[in-house]
Amino acid sequence: MDSWSPDSWRTRPAQQQPRYADPAALDAVVDRLRGLPPLVTAAEVEELKAELALAAGGGRFLLQAGDCAEPFGACGAVTVRRKLRFLLELGDVLARGTGRPVVPVGRIAGQFAKPRTTDTERVGDVELPVYRGDNVNRADATWEARQPDPALLEQGYWHAARAMDALRTHAASERRPLFSSHEALLLPFEEAMTRPAGEDGRAYGLGAHFLWLGDRTRHLEGAHVEFLRGIANPIGIKVGPRCAPEELVALVRLLDPRREPGRITLITRYGKDAIRGFLPLHVRALRAAGLEALWCCDPMHGNTRLVRGRKTRHFDDVMEELRTAFALHAEEGSRLGGIHLELTDDAVTECLGGPEGLDAGDLDRRYETACDPRLNAAQGLELASDLSRMLHREQPPCLAAQLPRGTGTYPRPE
Ligand code: PEP
Ligand code: CO
Repeated sequence: MDSWSPDSWRTRPAQQQPRYADPAALDAVVDRLRGLPPLVTAAEVEELKAELALAAGGGRFLLQAGDCAEPFGACGAVTVRRKLRFLLELGDVLARGTGRPVVPVGRIAGQFAKPRTTDTERVGDVELPVYRGDNVNRADATWEARQPDPALLEQGYWHAARAMDALRTHAASERRPLFSSHEALLLPFEEAMTRPAGEDGRAYGLGAHFLWLGDRTRHLEGAHVEFLRGIANPIGIKVGPRCAPEELVALVRLLDPRREPGRITLITRYGKDAIRGFLPLHVRALRAAGLEALWCCDPMHGNTRLVRGRKTRHFDDVMEELRTAFALHAEEGSRLGGIHLELTDDAVTECLGGPEGLDAGDLDRRYETACDPRLNAAQGLELASDLSRMLHREQPPCLAAQLPRGTGTYPRPE
């Protein structure tokens, strides 16, 4: 196999990268980032990998959730603590059903960059470059705000550092582990956060514990796959209906050459109908190739639709994809080991349906996301308790008896 280095991705086509007016300014920022301390440690990353290995075997359940696009303004201690409290509350609801400890991973402390389907969007009479996350440009609907600015990448580091501090403080006070994650999208940033660590000096992406490969950037020959194959972190692969089974197998082989337990999480996001056609084929292809991974359901990204000009998702569609994922894994003799959600504890009105029965007329009332629509607190809790019931029914009695029930807590290794 070709040799890998933190910058070997530069020889490959990189999709979804901002086009900066001044590339030298980007280089200067990346140089400075290289000299700054990492945001997480390799030991924490390894701890998460071990937890995910347990989840793949049925001994844990992964709960990965947070904003679609995390705003810089949401990185203060108070906001981060509130988000983490909600994440842990949802985790407790799930743990009651599963009897398995939940592994909480936030889309937090650096989820600042978004892949987009189009380069521009129409706002009123004007065509503007799209918003690509606070790390790239600003969401305001002006031409100036939408220009990519490399200085934002450096601000992103400091905001992520601030959020990580709050995360650590909260994890310590709750006496349980909490992990950070984001999409590995902006490769100059990820490269600058890559450091050798551990006894054998393996490269780790130390900008977050868990990094994922997006559905739009998972090309076998592409720069994102090249970057991710060389770092030691646990990584997620978003898998949608455009992924052929043989492509999935090739991706997992390429990204997990050492066949490390906990290394690969497959985050499936087909949509409530397409899932029936694709999930069984993907599960069978992986098994036939003798490969293993943690299967995680993202019931959000395949169920987005436009209602009155707003991107939204219906709670019933989200639940249907989740229920179907659960049932299909069981039919295939596989296991659903995690869930990936976009949500907030705020009472936003971005997704339809749910316990409050939100309808199209409610969308304008409190629509605050800068990118995809998030479940609100009531919808998130409802989903968690439904999923908890599904997981409870799944428990074989012998396993249920062996595992501690109802706390969701587990000691942090010394
Ligand atoms: C996301 O998770 O916000 C996202 C863009 O997902 P996907 O790559 O699955 O579309
Ligand atoms: Co999203």
